[in-house]
Amino acid sequence: MERTFIAIKPDGVQRGLIGEIVSRFETKGFTLVGMKFMMVTRELAEEHYGVHRERPFFPGLVEFITSAPVVAMVWEGDGVVASARKLIGATNPLTAEPGTIRGDFGVSIGRNIIHGSDAIETAQTEIALWFKDGELANWEPTIKPWIYE
Ligand code: RTP
Ligand code: MG
Repeated sequence: MERTFIAIKPDGVQRGLIGEIVSRFETKGFTLVGMKFMMVTRELAEEHYGVHRERPFFPGLVEFITSAPVVAMVWEGDGVVASARKLIGATNPLTAEPGTIRGDFGVSIGRNIIHGSDAIETAQTEIALWFKDGELANWEPTIKPWIYE
């Protein structure tokens, strides 16, 4: 089944939003298959945001993402990659729709609380970058028939 990589960024952790954010994915009906609370090394941050290496905001972004703990997660479910991006909302929290995580909790593009993979292929790369095989749980929630027809 489809999987995506989600990270609660340092601002989300500092602001006490871990429970709220995890809850949104759980209550939507997605399945948590991996989770770790961790400091991000500069090396991992630069690799993760490698596509933005030439952008002016890159140094600040790496500085920010390594500045306090993050919660790295893998969520599973039908269409989870695109759906998670919808739950998260637009990159700039000021223009993100109310009801989305960024729309409800942020005001600044450099403090947008959460990361979500932008495509299925990106998700696969990011999951492999952040998690070892043994850190992911292959399990099926008993509630599944009440979530999927
Ligand atoms: P993310 O990768 O973190 O899920 O965010 P995204 O796809 O919505 O946005 P992306 O274009 O991939 O940008 C990655 C992160 O870089 C920061 N950013 N700052 N100051 C700026 O103009 C600017 N633009 C992007 C944001 O933290 C964004 O989430
Ligand atoms: Mg992105």
